[in-house]
Amino acid sequence: MRVVHSKQELSERIAEWRQQDEHVALVPTMGNLHAGHIALVKLAREHAERVVVSIFVNPTQFGDGEDFDDYPRTLEVDKRRLKTTAADLIFAPDVDTVYPFGIDQATTVSVPELTENFCGASRPGHFDGVTTVVARLFALVQPDVAVFGQKDYQQQLVIRRMVEDMNLPVTIITCETIREDDGLALSSRNSYLTEEERATAPQLYEALKSVGEDLQNGRRNFSELEIAATRKLADAGFEVDYFAIRRAQNLAIPDRDCDDLVVLAAARLGAARLIDNIVVTV
Ligand code: PAJ
Repeated sequence: MRVVHSKQELSERIAEWRQQDEHVALVPTMGNLHAGHIALVKLAREHAERVVVSIFVNPTQFGDGEDFDDYPRTLEVDKRRLKTTAADLIFAPDVDTVYPFGIDQATTVSVPELTENFCGASRPGHFDGVTTVVARLFALVQPDVAVFGQKDYQQQLVIRRMVEDMNLPVTIITCETIREDDGLALSSRNSYLTEEERATAPQLYEALKSVGEDLQNGRRNFSELEIAATRKLADAGFEVDYFAIRRAQNLAIPDRDCDDLVVLAAARLGAARLIDNIVVTV
């Protein structure tokens, strides 16, 4: 498995595969890889003969005062981790390769509406950064397939929308959320939790599951369920950003007979902002 940094090396490698009629899957990441990312790589391999993992801490998706500078950069460990997987190539570009005209002069891709609420509201400009970098990675790698995690539910919806709207020739695949034994969704940001916070953190998933059960049992008083879960999490020490029951398909407010729901939550626990969700099909 090779690591390439430049556009040139990347294109050469991909051209070799294309000559052999091989399909290419891309797994975009910001590195500091954990078992969640590895599950994406495995799923990617089921859909293409070749798998490229991009590792790029994308500056344009971090807001002022967010953790861009502190975000863990662990390329050597990531390389070792990926050696045991089906990845063929790591693409680890620098900022100039991804943004040749500089960040301030970059052409931006922006998906309206879907990005307005939830993580889009609490992190203004975040999704523009995500779609802008993902569109660039698609242009550089030209994959047939790209894999994203359900953990970032809104993100994968936004990317699906971008691909559909712009007719990009990429099939988007979503991988289920990989969790610790106690239910906490794996995330690079879990490393910001103190021991005590780490013990509290699984309550976020517990709250989602409990609302999921209520919905399965026919409860439809959505805002009551949201308020009760928010209160419970606040009592446990979370600073809740949002806890919402929405239509799984487009995050719109559901009516009572909607049978495809997603329960989405984001909450701060100390220095970590945790996000998680569950899909409830009733
Ligand atoms: P990053 O946070 O590194 O995540 C890379 C991919 O791994 C995303 O698709 C994310 O949803 C997925 N992922 C993270 N934790 C997961 C888990 N516990 N189970 C399953 N999948 C998980 O998301 C980003 O990077 C960036 O926004 C990116 C798309 C790379 C654009 O910069």
